[in-house]
Amino acid sequence: MSSVCSHLDYSHTPVLKKEVVHHLRIRPEGIYLDGTIGSGGHASAIQSRLSEEGILVGLDVDEEAIRHCRTAYSASSNCHLFNGSYDNFPQYLLSLGVEQVDGMLLDLGLSSHQIESPDRGFSHQIEGPLDMRFDVSSPLTAEEIMNRWDEDKLRDVIWKLGEERQAAGIARIIVKRRKLKPMTTTFDLRDAVLSVVIGRYARKSLSRVFQAFRIAVNGELDTLRDFLDRFVKHLRLEGRIVILSYHSLEDRLVKNKFKELAHGCVCPPDLPTCVCGREPCMKILTKRPITSSESEISRNRRARSVRMRAAERIA
Ligand SMILES: C[S@@+](CC[C@H](N)C(=O)[O-])C[C@H]1O[C@@H](n2cnc3c(N)ncnc32)[C@H](O)[C@@H]1O
Repeated sequence: MSSVCSHLDYSHTPVLKKEVVHHLRIRPEGIYLDGTIGSGGHASAIQSRLSEEGILVGLDVDEEAIRHCRTAYSASSNCHLFNGSYDNFPQYLLSLGVEQVDGMLLDLGLSSHQIESPDRGFSHQIEGPLDMRFDVSSPLTAEEIMNRWDEDKLRDVIWKLGEERQAAGIARIIVKRRKLKPMTTTFDLRDAVLSVVIGRYARKSLSRVFQAFRIAVNGELDTLRDFLDRFVKHLRLEGRIVILSYHSLEDRLVKNKFKELAHGCVCPPDLPTCVCGREPCMKILTKRPITSSESEISRNRRARSVRMRAAERIA
């Protein structure tokens, strides 16, 4: 069977691969969904544990990632790939006649290939267009946001999604500079940030600001919320879900949803008895989020901010 990782020019080192595979507890004849297949690093580890009866369904909203995986997977009949967003996963499963799966994986954020591609505009270290879309057919780009959104909205994005303390100053300078010349490149944004934040914190601020705009462009928090509201009924009993996030807001959404599903009742705490009748349906497998070891981080910088959470369907 050909492996999804056989195309090395689209390389991406999967984060916490052993831990992901362990927590998914893969059954050889099971059905698994990788909602963010990227270059297929995790998917290939899952697929290598499946028998001929097992099925892997891979999604990615980036058509380049799917094209890469299609080539790498061409010889494999138990792998089904779709170019689409993971919050729409039920429709892709349905097209295969599948309603429930044994395991789901989301590895959020962006792949090494995406960040290193100048034309995608994700990196403050490489000059490129202010794009930042995972799905290049979607209408909203970072350039549109940078040149059209008002100062308050820009400040909110940088503050709320980037947790950047200099948000107000950065928003102000973006608006000032775009009056002279539209912001069109990653270096326009980088220079604007560096004119406000100086010294040893500048690099972190750049990462935070770029991450904030990327999350806004792709509506990443809304997509994750939608998925979290829908996934349970598509997991089989004893099926497992594993989510890797790289941003505190994403991790908080996952943590709170898992807690809610493991607790069941959603009645206000001051009600003497439960009136909602909801029972716990998930068991949390990771009391604390799993993070990468120093040695993994030294080999793969992307691993430094990961938080992995896993849960199992119990009812
Ligand atoms: C961190 S990478 C995944 C890497 C993958 N686990 C591997 O081992 O190669 C995240 C991927 O999620 C994709 N992505 C982002 N938002 C998505 C969405 N809403 N639906 C599907 N894929 C998405 C990105 O295009 C990117 O390829």
